[in-house]
Amino acid sequence: MDIKTFSEAPWLYLSLSIVIAFATYLILRRQRPATAINEEMNDVKQAAAEGFSSSEEIFPPSSDFIAKARVKGMAGYQKLYRRSIDDPEGFWADEAKELTWFEPWTKVLDESKKPFFKWFVGGKTNLAYNCIDAQIAKGLGEKVAIVFEGEPTPGGVAEIRKITYRELLSEVSRFANVLKSLDLKKGDTVAIYMPMVPELAFAVLACARIGVVHSVVFGGFSAESIRDRVNDANSKAVITMDGGYRRGKFLPLKQTVDEAVKDCPSCKHVLVLQRHLGKPDAACTMQSGRDLWYHERAAQVTDVCPAVWQESNDMLFLLYTSGSTGKPKGIIHGTGGYMLQAYTTNKYVFDLRNDDLFWCTADVGWVTGHTYVVYGPLLNGASVLMYEGAPDAPDFGRFWKIIQDHKVSVFYTAPTAIRAFMKWGDEWVKKHDLSSLRLLGSVGEPINPEAWLWYHRNIGAARCPIVDTWWQTETGGHMITPIPGCTPTKPGSATLPFFGVDAAVLDENGEETDSGILAIRKPWPGITQGIYGDEKRYIEAYWSRWGGKYYFPGDGAIKDKDGYLWITGRVDDVVNVSGHRIGTAELEAVFIENEAVAESAVIGVKHDLKGQGLMAFVILKTAHAKTVNEANLAKTLNNMVDAKIGKFARPERIVFVPDLPKTRSGKIMRRLLRDISEDRELGNVSTLADPAVVEAIRQKFATPAV
Ligand code: WT7
Repeated sequence: MDIKTFSEAPWLYLSLSIVIAFATYLILRRQRPATAINEEMNDVKQAAAEGFSSSEEIFPPSSDFIAKARVKGMAGYQKLYRRSIDDPEGFWADEAKELTWFEPWTKVLDESKKPFFKWFVGGKTNLAYNCIDAQIAKGLGEKVAIVFEGEPTPGGVAEIRKITYRELLSEVSRFANVLKSLDLKKGDTVAIYMPMVPELAFAVLACARIGVVHSVVFGGFSAESIRDRVNDANSKAVITMDGGYRRGKFLPLKQTVDEAVKDCPSCKHVLVLQRHLGKPDAACTMQSGRDLWYHERAAQVTDVCPAVWQESNDMLFLLYTSGSTGKPKGIIHGTGGYMLQAYTTNKYVFDLRNDDLFWCTADVGWVTGHTYVVYGPLLNGASVLMYEGAPDAPDFGRFWKIIQDHKVSVFYTAPTAIRAFMKWGDEWVKKHDLSSLRLLGSVGEPINPEAWLWYHRNIGAARCPIVDTWWQTETGGHMITPIPGCTPTKPGSATLPFFGVDAAVLDENGEETDSGILAIRKPWPGITQGIYGDEKRYIEAYWSRWGGKYYFPGDGAIKDKDGYLWITGRVDDVVNVSGHRIGTAELEAVFIENEAVAESAVIGVKHDLKGQGLMAFVILKTAHAKTVNEANLAKTLNNMVDAKIGKFARPERIVFVPDLPKTRSGKIMRRLLRDISEDRELGNVSTLADPAVVEAIRQKFATPAV
């Protein structure tokens, strides 16, 4: 056939280009996901086969609860949910009008820069103002905002403090003035590294009051982790405390900060609070010029500080969280949208009233503490309880005593804690009066039905509804959750989407399925504004899986016949240890720094208490393999994890193996490592470059831990 020009045979050229375009699309679509999707699907399918969603028992809300609830019955939920999906802008605008705005917005949702969504464009507000001043304006000034229960000090007495909304205004304003006196202003970032004391909430709210971006670093993180976060965010200061109590011990936080900021050029000041004013427990060395005692600065400023107007999309905070690759990423949250997510989820999911005492046991170092200790409860004018210490000190009844003493009405904790309570025995619960409770919540990881039922019977006296809330740092607030006066619950299921959340379970091609990957279609107000300093990584990690049409949270899910969602756990290389999110790549990066290590693979395995634990498989360099003492090296590697991440990230076990199971293209088949660790029959090994490797690993795994 003669080659014809375009003008002679346009149909030929057109159809050829269509064929080429389609082929390119197919190739690109095959290549897009960064992680091996088939492996992930297998995990979800396996969970389904193991009867993950088999609990058929249904617990409808009691008529008592419904009678008092804000939204009543499934019809009530469905009506609001339908509106939130059909008319999201109308729905969210109506909710937002319940909050204080200094200037109205011009547009509810701007999708023009998708996936960088803007909410309430042009609206001016302030989150601390809404949490405090707006409550005082409603007449709640003398109401208790924060109830603090410290851990018993070595003297044996717990410190109890009650801070009213008016006192909170004074504390936060003074704190904000201290920050201003350090020349910190709107748009600057500061890191906060503190124990669970009211001053932590003051610090966070003080930042919000003047538009300083806070980056709270959980007190369990190491100096190196603080350093990385301070440097990534260019934080101008670190706010810390001499220390805090845990299990009777004084943890000297300031010392850790000293070590961290040695290598932080952006950090000009370390502002240090005293755990007990006037009698510091830990000797702090103060570096002159850099380190400042908070109480000295506070004495020089007033307790009046006007709230700085924030445009709704101005940055409110950064919170670092783990992903499947590289170092933790700084998740950005804005002001207005996040505020609305925090407000509405506390209002509807915890049905919070201003006579509630709400206790969320999470540390403010995690997102749960941001949304459900600090911002959300105060936005609803509730009282919130903060507890400094551990659940098992001085004894296993600590939590129940706190609930009894303070008459906590809504209690929110993690499945890992519930499993520990079960292990400690029911007698600790029975000794206390928990009749003040009216609602229970669960968060952080999938809750196994046994733990759910125990929680329901023993803590909730078969009377309190349980809300199992699925969400993540990136979502700002609850996404999939029962509404307590509406949704009949099934133990182990997070049930149905929250208002405005358009959730689906998809397969690798983006088709709806009943066991696959969780996906969210529409933006919601609390959605992250992205990853600090890395727009590309945000798009790649969350928006590239299904051609940009859906947000990919990284979790597997099953949808049952009633449309209920059951979250099966992470499908990427993130492991959820006791509700703490840890990227396996982070541990692998630590191990490789040891000169004896050639390569490693870290995986998540089932753990009775923690939900998941970390298991490390390490290959030694040939030169070291024969001579190294494995027990000593394991200790060294664990110490490296403590120093580079934090003790909570230690693996359950480090297994030294001759090789790792790899495909011919060199990819580690982590699934086989999971099969070995969980003592399952091995999956397909035919794609392995050397199938004999798995047997060698299995044998090494079977020999007692070093
Ligand atoms: C990951 C997010 C959300 C605040 C605490 C953790 C897992 C969270 C549930 C739940 C099943 C859950 C998911 C999620 N997760 N809640 N109710 N059921 N899984 O925030 O550190 O950002 O971790 O925690 O895997 O992706 P995070």
